[in-house]
Amino acid sequence: MKQTCGVDIVHIPRIKKLVEKHGGPSLENPFIKRVFSKEEIAHIIDRKDPYPGLAGRFAAKEAVIKALNPFKKIADLKSIKIKGKVPKVELKDNKLSKLGISVSISHDGDYAIALVVVTVLIKTDR
Ligand SMILES: CC(C)(COP(=O)(O)OP(=O)(O)OC[C@H]1O[C@@H](n2cnc3c(N)ncnc32)[C@H](O)[C@@H]1OP(=O)(O)O)[C@@H](O)C(=O)NCCC(=O)NCCS
Repeated sequence: MKQTCGVDIVHIPRIKKLVEKHGGPSLENPFIKRVFSKEEIAHIIDRKDPYPGLAGRFAAKEAVIKALNPFKKIADLKSIKIKGKVPKVELKDNKLSKLGISVSISHDGDYAIALVVVTVLIKTDR
């Protein structure tokens, strides 16, 4: 078995600034559309303060990229989906479907953080 991990921390006001620059929090916002699919954030976008949730999921995508680095270089944030209230990772690339991927997100004050652990079973002679 091989395990890798990735972590990312995001300054929530940075995400807020980017979203507001492109018209504010909505599913039509060009920045949001470039990063997230509707199903990932439909339950977040209408929150009174959607930014911790958006920043946490942004951090999760970056953490997935770090954890997957030994397996595949991923440049497109949209090919990684962070789905559900209890977040789960889904990848577009079927070749990576055998990997076990866990994610955990937290936010407090100005920061959101995500940790991702990737597990792969490697065949051995034993
Ligand atoms: C789930 C729980 C641990 C979240 O902790 P928290 O400090 O409130 O929140 P954090 O900022 O650390 O994490 C929030 C993120 O965790 C994730 N999350 C939510 N529920 C989760 C769950 N059941 N399992 C794993 N992750 C979860 C989500 O991504 C969430 O982000 P979002 O709100 O943007 O969707 C907490 O709500 C809980 O149930 N604690 C149980 C103990 C308890 O009730 N304590 C309070 C009384 S003292």
